[in-house]
Amino acid sequence: MTSAYVLNGPNLNLLGMREPETYGTATLADVERSCRDVAEELGWTLEFRQTNREGELVDWIQEAGAAQSTGEAVGVVLNAAAYTHTSVALQDAIIGSGARVIELHISNVHRRESYRHVSHVSPVAAGIIVGFGVAGYPMALRALAELSA
Ligand code: DQA
Repeated sequence: MTSAYVLNGPNLNLLGMREPETYGTATLADVERSCRDVAEELGWTLEFRQTNREGELVDWIQEAGAAQSTGEAVGVVLNAAAYTHTSVALQDAIIGSGARVIELHISNVHRRESYRHVSHVSPVAAGIIVGFGVAGYPMALRALAELSA
């Protein structure tokens, strides 16, 4: 069965408690449930993960790229959180692994501090979903379905 990866970076484990005026009150478990519903509808299994460690995100992107190359995965929805704005390693992992990545941000990063306007993921992403709150996650999975059809 084909799988889709939803990978979440640092501090997203705090979703629901963390700056609710910016990120809303849904928890990461709520987000996972909404993603599982859509994945089931699309006939995919779901790898839904969160880490506070940059290298772990690199490992998971490589894993997803390898699975994609054998037809076992459709790609990645990636909310790299703060690493979006700092990590050349994530960009290299996306290029090197060939993973199809939809970049996602819950908040509209372009309405926020200027350091959030820089993304090392955007230049290598297949598409970008920004500012729709946690509703962006199921949208991003549907976008993966469009792109991989
Ligand atoms: C975020 C935006 C990032 O700038 C921030 O560091 C996050 C979350 C978002 O989903 O809106 O942690 O990726």
